[in-house]
Formats: sequence, structure tokens, C-alpha cells
Amino acid sequence: MSNRDHVNIAPAEGKLGVLIPGIGAVSTTFMAGVEAVKRGIGQPVGSLTQLSTIRLGKRTDNKSPYIKDFVPLAGLDDLVFGGWDIYEDTAYDAAMKAQVLETSLLEKVREPLQAIKPMKAVFEQEYVKRINGPNVKKEGTKFDKAQALIQDIRDFQKANKVSRSVMIWCGSTEVFHRPSEVHQTLASLEEGMKKNHPEIAPSQIYAYAALMSGIPFANGAPNLTHDIPALLDLSRDRNLPVCGKDFKTGQTFMKTLIAPGLKARMLGMSGWFSTNILGNRDGEVLDDPGSFKSKEETKLSVLDTILQPQLYPMLYKDLFHAVRINYYPPRGDAKEGWDNIDIFGWLGYPMQIKIDFLCRDSILAAPLVLDLVLFLDLAQRAGMRGIQEWLSFYFKAPMHAPGLYPEHDIFIQLMKLKNTLRWMRGEDLITHLGLEYYD
Ligand SMILES: NC(=O)c1ccc[n+]([C@@H]2O[C@H](COP(=O)([O-])OP(=O)(O)OC[C@H]3O[C@@H](n4cnc5c(N)ncnc54)[C@H](O)[C@@H]3O)[C@@H](O)[C@H]2O)c1
Repeated sequence: MSNRDHVNIAPAEGKLGVLIPGIGAVSTTFMAGVEAVKRGIGQPVGSLTQLSTIRLGKRTDNKSPYIKDFVPLAGLDDLVFGGWDIYEDTAYDAAMKAQVLETSLLEKVREPLQAIKPMKAVFEQEYVKRINGPNVKKEGTKFDKAQALIQDIRDFQKANKVSRSVMIWCGSTEVFHRPSEVHQTLASLEEGMKKNHPEIAPSQIYAYAALMSGIPFANGAPNLTHDIPALLDLSRDRNLPVCGKDFKTGQTFMKTLIAPGLKARMLGMSGWFSTNILGNRDGEVLDDPGSFKSKEETKLSVLDTILQPQLYPMLYKDLFHAVRINYYPPRGDAKEGWDNIDIFGWLGYPMQIKIDFLCRDSILAAPLVLDLVLFLDLAQRAGMRGIQEWLSFYFKAPMHAPGLYPEHDIFIQLMKLKNTLRWMRGEDLITHLGLEYYD
């Protein structure tokens, strides 16, 4: 299947503004990393846009360009960063406090990081219980605060002479909320903001401000945010691509590697117990049951969708799946995730798998932020709008059209991502049928 000349992609000309609510561990590791790569003092390990190739045509064609040479992506030199936080720390100070990157590296990128001073945040204690800071917008209703964000965006774009922007939420995890009446239409959302409706979260106000400013939006946290009819309709009406939720990094990344493999071999599973210790600010926020509930929902949904117990009741219907996160300050960002997996094989004989992943959350998340920024910008220039399911690859709880189940299997997600890029450029999609090699 080919769609040669079907998708018109506008060139990536000029500067790309990257607007980030949340100048914390993930976003500063991302920004510092980009600055380090630009200076040739680090490599963008973990980033598909920077390192991955894409096969075109038959296996015998030997044609595998880099993704960045195949589709027109913004260059790292064209990225300009800005953001909001409830703390006044510059990106440099925030990175020093987060203690993800070594001081010696941060010193080398001190100048650009110090120039990133967070704008005043839209924040509500009810949504993030464990932290509080002085750098917040205090005046007016939620609607007034949305207008203030829109003004911030305009000022940023003008000051930095950007030609396009994207926004990516790297703020703390907000407490769990389900969509309600106020989230149904743009009119009800705007009316609700004017009345300070308690169901409208700060992250929703940022997403609204982004979309009203013509900016694509991604959500790196598990909060509800733009996964509501009012904002999804707005993204389609304004021709803006959006995606989310919750970066797929440590333990859930491992789950989506291992579970599809066990299922592919029709091995059964009776239990999967996951526990984590982490000591960064994210861990502190997740120590609150409301914020943890948001995380738990995205983490738990993965296995059910991959294993499909409704199709394979004998193998998976009795699966007991539990996820725990414990705040443990000594570990900082270098978290540890243990998994115990109880599986069974031929004739029901039980076996166990143990995983002990000593990972670094923000080191795993930073390249995902970079890819999402570049791909969302690409999608916008390619005229794609609404939910970008091809970016499911990056998320624990991929957003999807109503009535569809999300695709969690990372290898299917990768195929979908690369086929979407092939489709954009009018190349044949790769089905892996391969019969032609044996004709
Ligand atoms: N690191 C990972 O691997 C990973 C994976 C999946 C999801 N996430 C999510 O990404 C987010 C960022 O993680 P992190 O480790 O950088 O956390 P962090 O606590 O270091 O940074 C979050 C920042 O957001 C700020 N913030 C909170 N509410 C805000 C608001 N309303 N407006 C502006 N700023 C606000 C906080 O002050 C903080 O500085 C978290 O929600 C986390 O759950 C991280």
C-alpha cells in the first residue's frame, strides 16, 4: 500500500518553541541533554528521532535511512525552551536540585539553563497535595488564568521569534479525576473556568491555553488533562495533533517488553507483583493516594490489554496484578523497581520470573520528551489532528478513539510509528509478509 504524494509536509523552518509546564527532574534532564548534545559532550541515547533508522522497500533493497533524514524534523539547534513552575528556580537550579545529572555536566550547560526562568504557574493544592510553591498566578478565575497563560505563550513566542511551538506537560501527577459534565463541550469548559469549577484541573487549563494558541499538546503524566471531549474536539477543530498519557519508561516499559513475549508463546500468568522505591519529588507527590491513584490506573491497564483474558481465559483470567510505589528519599531519581511474575507452562506447571530494574527515571524519560516534541511538530506540519495513536509507543496509557482498545504491545506500537512515517512520505508500508522473497 502506498500513498505517494498524499501527505504534504510543510518544511521545518525557523525556531520551534518547546513550552513545558513543570521544570522538574524530567524536563531539566531533557533540556540539559539537548544542550549537551548540541555541544558534542553527550549522545542522545534512547531517542528514535536522533538514532533510529527506518527500513524502506524490500529487505534486499538495503535502504535504511535515519528517521531524521527521512522525515523533515526540527533540528536540535532550532529548539527554544520555556516553561512554568510553582518554584522560582531556573532550569539550572532545578536540575542541580533534582540531582539526576552530574554537576560537572551541568556546569558545561549552565548558561542556557540559567536563562530558563519559569513563568508563574497555574496551580491548585487540591490537585497536587504534597508540594507548594510561591511562583503561581493568584489573580482572577480559572478562565482569567487561562488567558494569562495564553499571554505568556504570546510573549514567549515573540521574545524568542519562534515560528511554531509545542507544549508538553512534565508537571507533577495530579490527583485522579474522571471526566464529568463540565468536560463535555468547549462551552461548558469555558463556563466552568469562569465559575472556578472544582473539576477543572490546572493541567486542563494549560492544555486549553495551548490549543487556543494553535499549539499541539502532549501529556507526560497520567492525569486526565486533555483526555476529555471538550479538549479533544478543540484539537480537531483547530487541526492540532495531541497525545498522551504518562511516559512509558521504567517498570511499565519492561512489562510491555515481557508480557507480549509470554503471551506470544501462550504461556499462562497467575500473578504479577510490581513494587518501586524512589526518592525524587515525583516520588513525594505520588506518596499522596490521590496522585498515586492516577498512576495506578495507567500502570494497571497495561497487562489486561496485552494479555486479553477475555480471549484466553484459561491462561489469564485469574491474573492477580498489583503495583506499589514507595517514597524512599535516599534513592533520589535512581529508583529501583522489582517485579515478581508467576507464570505457568505445559500442563500448568508453575515458574517464576524476577526482575530487579535499577533504573534512572529521568534518564529514560528525557529522550521520550525530545521525540514527542519533534514528532508532534512533524504531525502538525503534516496536517494531522486530534489523537496521534502512532505515538502510543511513548505512553503507558495511550490515548485512543472511543470504542477502540489501546495498543500496548511495544513492538506493534513501533511498527505503527514507522509505518505512519512511511505513509507520510508516500513509501510502501511494511507488513512483514515477505512472500515475494520465495517466489
Ligand atoms: N521520569 C519518568 O520516568 C516518568 C515516567 C512517566 C511519567 N512521569 C511523570 O512526569 C512528570 C514529571 O516527573 P518529574 O520526575 O520531572 O517530577 P518533578 O517533581 O521533578 O517535576 C515536576 C515539576 O512540576 C511542577 N508542577 C507541579 N504542578 C505544576 C503546575 N500546575 N504548573 C507548573 N508546574 C507544576 C513541580 O513544582 C515540579 O517542579 C510527573 O508527573 C511524573 O509522574 C515521569
